[in-house]
Amino acid sequence: MTNADLEKMVETSDEWITARTGIKERRIAPDGLAASDYAHEASLKAMEMAGISADDLDLIILGTVTPDAPLPSTACILQDKLKAKNAAVVDIVAACSGFIYGLEYAKAIIQNGQKEKALVIGVETLSKIVNWKDRNTCVLFGDGAGAAVLAPSDTPGGILATYTKADGSLARLLQVPAGGGRLPLNTDNIGNGDRFIQMQGPEVFKSAVRAMEEAAVSILKQSGTKSGDIDLMIPHQANIRIIEATAKRIKLPMDRVFVNIHKYGNTSAASVPIALDEAVRSNRIRPGDKIMMVSFGAGFTWGSVLVEW
Ligand code: UT7
Repeated sequence: MTNADLEKMVETSDEWITARTGIKERRIAPDGLAASDYAHEASLKAMEMAGISADDLDLIILGTVTPDAPLPSTACILQDKLKAKNAAVVDIVAACSGFIYGLEYAKAIIQNGQKEKALVIGVETLSKIVNWKDRNTCVLFGDGAGAAVLAPSDTPGGILATYTKADGSLARLLQVPAGGGRLPLNTDNIGNGDRFIQMQGPEVFKSAVRAMEEAAVSILKQSGTKSGDIDLMIPHQANIRIIEATAKRIKLPMDRVFVNIHKYGNTSAASVPIALDEAVRSNRIRPGDKIMMVSFGAGFTWGSVLVEW
């Protein structure tokens, strides 16, 4: 869906969307396709790249805020599609930080020897919970999925450090109020927009820049790495201005920052793994490179992962 398509739906313009967000187009899931369908495709590609089969997996962690259904977890539905019968599976709800949280947990579980091969996925079909009459939000979001396989290795490098944080006191700034136990869906809130994403954009923007900087600075400090040592930062793709402000604050030139927001918009938990995949497949990432992934999202949640590729 292009900005021109959106111009026909709400009072907006390609000029406004491009200047304020950097987004030119986004992918929209058609009716009948849900998160597990996209997670399935991404998982098959990740397993192919890693050279493993579904039988090898003993852990699947799936980050999403747009599950196929409230019950069971989308990870269970995916496990069945993959026939990954040896895997323990779980969804995590950390919004845009879902993939980063998933990497931290998978790494810890592998490191303590409980599991060997983990599949970590970030997937969203945000188009299903976007209010297509609200120009403040509908121009921002898109659908997609990305996945990575984690396994123990004797080779030096790999995941060098992880960092995750949250602040639930700011939850109201970015939320879907209805559809849970507090405000079950009923005829009133189905009509009033409470089942869709609601966001106080400017407040979220300020928190995002602060938190992304904190996540980057903290992981650099924790791992004894300088920002000049980072070959590529893969930030959550929410707004090009947030990405640029974060890079500026940590003194990282934009040619060391991966950006694909113009093609996909904000895909929440899927944004970092989609960007990671594109960076790998386009040879922007080479063996030995230091990669810093950084995210911020609803909750609020934020975090970072430092990898030596
Ligand atoms: O995934 C992690 C969480 N999400 C984020 O990190 C998103 C954070 N927030 C943002 O990226 C930005 O705040 C937005 C892109 C959402 C909005 O940009 P902004 O520069 O903060 O704009 P604003 O909300 O302050 O609105 C400025 C003006 C307003 O008009 P007035 O009051 O100045 O007349 C809005 O009504 O722009 C108007 N506006 C629009 N105009 C055309 C808001 N949305 C649109 C639109 N098209 N789609």
